[in-house]
Amino acid sequence: VDVKPILFNRGIPAAESFGIDNVLRAARDVLGEHGNVLMQYGPSTGFVPLREWLAAWQGVTADQVLLGNGSLQLLDFLCLALLEPGDLVFTEAPTYDRTLTLLRRRGARVVGIPLAADGPELDRLEDEIAKARPKLFYTIPDFQNPAGATCSAPKRRRIAELAEQHDFLIVEDAPYRQLRYRGTEERSLYSIAPGRTIQMSSFSKLIGPGARVGFLIGPVDLLKKIAKLAEDTYICPNNLAHGVAYEWCRRGLLPLQIERLKSLYAPRLDACIGALARHMPEAEATRPEGGFFVSVTLPEGTSTTAVREKARARELQLADGTAFFPNGGGDRFLRLPFCALTPAEIEEGIGRLGETVRELRGAVALA
Ligand SMILES: Cc1ncc(COP(=O)(O)O)c(C=O)c1O
Repeated sequence: VDVKPILFNRGIPAAESFGIDNVLRAARDVLGEHGNVLMQYGPSTGFVPLREWLAAWQGVTADQVLLGNGSLQLLDFLCLALLEPGDLVFTEAPTYDRTLTLLRRRGARVVGIPLAADGPELDRLEDEIAKARPKLFYTIPDFQNPAGATCSAPKRRRIAELAEQHDFLIVEDAPYRQLRYRGTEERSLYSIAPGRTIQMSSFSKLIGPGARVGFLIGPVDLLKKIAKLAEDTYICPNNLAHGVAYEWCRRGLLPLQIERLKSLYAPRLDACIGALARHMPEAEATRPEGGFFVSVTLPEGTSTTAVREKARARELQLADGTAFFPNGGGDRFLRLPFCALTPAEIEEGIGRLGETVRELRGAVALA
């Protein structure tokens, strides 16, 4: 029998979320009207109308916004601008694995602050600050990748205070912020500490990652420095894609798209939480109110590496849980990105995961 592979390894949007018709119409119209501008080099800071639109949306001025080809490369430029090899950077543990790769490539010393369901453990953060002041604290406060945790309001306020007291910059990575399926929004760190925070976000989870439209919101002088590095790297970001994104936004499609995404993804989150309760009651799962990820702590004695190995035989692909931890650990950590799977696939996938874990525990019990 053919067993259909289930890909629980990548945090990507669902193909059916893309709304190709709207992108097509926006592209045709904007090229018809501004084709000569869009086909030319543009400013290193990005396509001006999109910058202005984003500024209005976020309640800042256009010079507080910097556009780039996705947010990840902007983070790389930020590191290039600010970090010397050996500089100390704090992240959450676990955190987004690509950020860890990029920080290491820039020579940073990375210290992970353990993440609880309501955000980073502040005692640990304060202990680490007392040992040595970081240059940056990279945090994903909303529907964190990979854990699914959202930072509470008191923790946000305290992180902002600590940044002020100890003179470090908060890098607030917020690509999932708009995708809240229930509950109420928390204030952004940027809104609490605008002078100390650089917020990164993108349209990757809203329009589609292929468009590569990302942005930073932050202090003007720092953005200027980053824009210079961007210019020296690629002259300007993808003007054509940014023009299409602008036209798409100008038509008022963003609020509609966010509602569409919520109604597509919320049942997938529920399917994931429900399936975990049914198939893996012994595992400890997070209960996010939005975003792309649920995470699971496997039962004692079950390693994520072994589960991942064994799951392959059941055509279940999982990500390496330990890769999200900057300083080791995560041996029982599993990230489950649910958005690109249908509720039926989620049910099937978590069923296979439960069988895999039981098989392994049986083997352990026998040994
Ligand atoms: C937390 C986080 N930051 C950054 C990115 C990269 O986004 P972009 O496509 O804007 O480069 C992702 C994508 O998965 C992400 O999860």
